[in-house]
Amino acid sequence: MSPRTVRSTMGQGLASATPPSWAASLRGHLDELLIEQAQLEKRAASTATAFLFRVPQAPVVQQALSALAREELLHFERTLRLCATRAIPFRTQPPSPYAERLKAACRPAMPDRLVDELLVAALIEARSCERMAALADAFAGVDDELAAFWRDLVAAEARHQVVYADVAASLVPAAAVAARWRELAAHEARVLGVLPWSPRLHGGLPAAAHGRA
Ligand SMILES: [Fe+2]
Ligand SMILES: [Fe+2]
Repeated sequence: MSPRTVRSTMGQGLASATPPSWAASLRGHLDELLIEQAQLEKRAASTATAFLFRVPQAPVVQQALSALAREELLHFERTLRLCATRAIPFRTQPPSPYAERLKAACRPAMPDRLVDELLVAALIEARSCERMAALADAFAGVDDELAAFWRDLVAAEARHQVVYADVAASLVPAAAVAARWRELAAHEARVLGVLPWSPRLHGGLPAAAHGRA
């Protein structure tokens, strides 16, 4: 499958949309949000690095994942600086259940397992991208430094989604990737729909949003 074909697959995107009330509900929770942002970036770098050892050793694949891992570490460092300038003490944070619940849907046998894990990584990038764009909109005119920070990251996370999907498409035929993307996107939407609200990038919706649904 060519990268162009995969990008058209990704055009189907997420199976649910985050309402603007979600980002608005986080305006009073900057400390938790930025600490989590840093932890997520660090975890994203670790995920990309781990995939380097599991995916085909073709130079083009290795280059793409290595660049992705480095970019996530740059995001990590940038978020740390943002925390420091705002006197937000960096600390550990329990992982959100979101990623674990997504991974629970991965099929056990290879190469399906690797395909699913790559598509889950692509879905997490896609949701991060969507929610960072929502945060950028919600903080525009309120905290323009943060709005610009999230706006910058949105473009990178969108590219990361495509990288993971392209690698998955190097393992199995196009139709299989497209079908599995739809199934996992539906699963991701269900997981997010039942998670409780929390001041986290991948938390559930505020009660008011549920009430309107
Ligand atoms: Fe990132
Ligand atoms: Fe990313």
